[in-house]
Amino acid sequence: MQNPEGYFKIITYGCQMNQRDSEMMADLLEAAGYEPVAELEAADVIILDTCCVREKAENKVYGQLGQLERLKSARPELIITVAGCMVQQPGAAEKIRRQAPYVDLLLGTHNLTELPQLIAEVRETRQSRVAVQEEAGPVREDLPRRRARGSQAFVTITYGCNNYCSYCIVPYVRGPERSRQPEDILEEIMELAAQGVTEVTLLGQNVNSYGRDLGKDIDFAGLLKKVNEVEQLRRIRYMTSHPRDFTPELIKTLAGLEKVCEHVHLPVQAGSNRILELMNRGYSREYYLELVASLRRYIPGVSLTTDLIVGFPGEKEEDFAATLDLVAKVQYDNAFTFMYSPRKGTVAASLPDQLPLEIKKERLKRLMELQNQISLTKNEALVGEEIEVLVEGPSKTDPTKVSGRTRTNKLVIFPGGPELTGRYVKVKLTKAQTWLLKGELVGG
Ligand code: SAH
Ligand code: SF4
Ligand code: F3S
Repeated sequence: MQNPEGYFKIITYGCQMNQRDSEMMADLLEAAGYEPVAELEAADVIILDTCCVREKAENKVYGQLGQLERLKSARPELIITVAGCMVQQPGAAEKIRRQAPYVDLLLGTHNLTELPQLIAEVRETRQSRVAVQEEAGPVREDLPRRRARGSQAFVTITYGCNNYCSYCIVPYVRGPERSRQPEDILEEIMELAAQGVTEVTLLGQNVNSYGRDLGKDIDFAGLLKKVNEVEQLRRIRYMTSHPRDFTPELIKTLAGLEKVCEHVHLPVQAGSNRILELMNRGYSREYYLELVASLRRYIPGVSLTTDLIVGFPGEKEEDFAATLDLVAKVQYDNAFTFMYSPRKGTVAASLPDQLPLEIKKERLKRLMELQNQISLTKNEALVGEEIEVLVEGPSKTDPTKVSGRTRTNKLVIFPGGPELTGRYVKVKLTKAQTWLLKGELVGG
């Protein structure tokens, strides 16, 4: 075999969109003759694929950059790239260069595909480069053929977001919503299925509005019907669904498609109508609760998860109490809870009455205590059941065990070897914890 051009390492922050972008960059680099390595020390090119949805996400990147400074001074030929959402914010490239002048390459979210070309230029000229295009270009379908990584795969169906929730930076750093053509999505899924993928997760900031910009007779429900027909697939997941765009027709479609999993991630963000309005979410708590009831009516056993923000500007104790009340009413299987983090350039960042950190912390703690109790109770109710699990691989904490997920997206850990990876097995659930279930194998 030929010597590689060099070795690369990508560190990914943020959401599944970024995971997918990182895979795409890895495919591009491999097509250009680079090989991946696990160890930072062994890499010739290091790429940080960044997130800026909250301040904490950005701090992690700066922390990592601080550590990379040592590597760079020991090996000046090392190429350090910072890519993705953080770089796309106005003024961010300059800020990153001020804080970490040893960064060689800065890439915005609309320039990721230029990575191999720009690395070659940096290598040749020994000059740093910045590529941050303000506007999103057309959706690219001309990239190298996608390589499957195991039995699961993310497939992007829409890029960007048009919703402008008042707290959120995503529309600014990802551009407007752009749907991929259904034929391109299906072709990618069939290629993945041919390589052994049996579970796909369709990705978008708001998958429910898929197709609206295409001017064709296709919507998310229509797309799901087509994906459901791909023979080798066994499971279809999707995220994220905006509650506002969950039509009764879509619910009925989901319920009728046997491969679509019984799990809906349905971010509610807050339980008070006043705060929902300030957040520009476009629905009321009453609407949301009805939607939940309808999902449960049509999809028996459906699991529900959500995202919640505490400490939005002007959130009063009574608003927060409404969030607690909604969480208690819905009984989510799981929830991702966040302290509001002001993002420069968003509407909410300039609202009056920003809350002090202590109040946010205290509310977050109360919310998590409530949800943890609910999560545990929900998991306990499953003990004794035998359930289908897709094995994802060896457990991270115990090599004699494997972990996998149920159709309802519950994490299950049970004794077993790595040969089970990628298989659908039946597991008897024996013990419940807040975040996972333990069990034992009963059959293949
Ligand atoms: N498109 C998805 C979510 C994308 S961001 C959706 O609409 O649901 C993931 C989560 O981060 C959001 O659901 C929200 O709960 C949280 N989030 C976004 N901006 C935030 C901010 N400024 N502060 C705290 N949490 C935020
Ligand atoms: Fe952000 Fe709202 Fe778009 Fe989700 S729907 S990415 S929260 S603006
Ligand atoms: Fe995702 Fe973070 Fe960007 S949540 S879209 S990686 S800002």
